[in-house]
Amino acid sequence: MTNAPRFGIWAAVHGARAAHHDPDEPDDASWDRNRALVLEAEALGFDAVLVAQHTANPYDDGRDQLEAWTASAALAALTRRIEIIAAIKPGLYHPVVLAKMALQIEHIARGRFALNLVNAWNRAEFERAGLPFPAHDARYAYGAEWIGLVDRLMRGERVTHAGRHFRVEDYQLRPAGTFRTRPTIYLGGESEPARALAAERADVWFINGQPLDDVAALIADVAARPAPAPLRYGLSAFVIARETDAAAQIEHARLLALADRDAALRADTRARTDTASVMFAKTDAAATRHVGTNGGTAAGLVGSYDTVAARIRDFHAAGIDLFMLQFQPFEAEMRRFAEQILPRVR
Ligand SMILES: Cc1cc2nc3c(=O)[nH]c(=O)nc-3n(C[C@H](O)[C@H](O)[C@H](O)COP(=O)(O)O)c2cc1C
Repeated sequence: MTNAPRFGIWAAVHGARAAHHDPDEPDDASWDRNRALVLEAEALGFDAVLVAQHTANPYDDGRDQLEAWTASAALAALTRRIEIIAAIKPGLYHPVVLAKMALQIEHIARGRFALNLVNAWNRAEFERAGLPFPAHDARYAYGAEWIGLVDRLMRGERVTHAGRHFRVEDYQLRPAGTFRTRPTIYLGGESEPARALAAERADVWFINGQPLDDVAALIADVAARPAPAPLRYGLSAFVIARETDAAAQIEHARLLALADRDAALRADTRARTDTASVMFAKTDAAATRHVGTNGGTAAGLVGSYDTVAARIRDFHAAGIDLFMLQFQPFEAEMRRFAEQILPRVR
């Protein structure tokens, strides 16, 4: 790995990441909060923001939820340097419409836009809208055809396609290719079809937070597959960094105890979840308790400033070049990371 590591933040699209009853972290998913958060992240030197996509709040539909694509367009206009990555579930948008939206945001951002293809786990988001929610692997088959079309359309190709799910005739989108070949394609998902699709179609594969050996094994598996271009790798992780390892463990214990108060919310979420999703199977099986979504503290970025910096270097040596980070309370801990960890790893 020769590139320097890059660091991104998860936007606060549905409020807190670790625990919803934290007096230090209001469950604030507002546009105003997210605008300020992303502008500050950019000023602090972060390289990317990931805007997760959920139509209604996936934990509690009575709570606020930021809309990923409209918010990403606005962020593109307000920022200058940071990469904006918006998640997308193929079942929600026709590929022609979505490719057009991606090209528009790419233009607003002047070549800093990316999409993160995610295969969906929240059954209610689809079924309550009357949208089909096929079984896990069938959703990936649909997503594979979908991203193939989006990729070609974002390149500005004139597309005619007759497939299992889509018929497109003589479609071409402009402007395209102004800043680079096309927006970057990320893919978040760990199952076998997710890995196959990442190798085939993605530029960057996002891995859920988990221990180094597991991450190294996943990278080895995907890197061995034939791919049109070398894949890059990103890791989701929740960071707890303090002066000492002991102080970080005390904060981890505080967040774990707070997260216990969300047991009812988590049970409701689970009832709406496709249990075939590897992310949830892993969370259930996790030997160690953790906080944060998408693996969270299971990635082990919990410890003294030197410990966290050393673990980041180890992950980077294993092939991770983008760290997509969560914090709580978000703003204060993001600042601490920028002050204490960034200088140690850059
Ligand atoms: C970095 C990352 C970001 C994700 N973002 C979202 C998201 O914005 N919305 C969503 O519904 N799922 C998101 N997911 C979850 C995927 O949808 C989930 O992994 C999906 O169920 C794919 O299943 P698989 O892991 O079984 O392949 C994300 C996953 C990862 C790794």
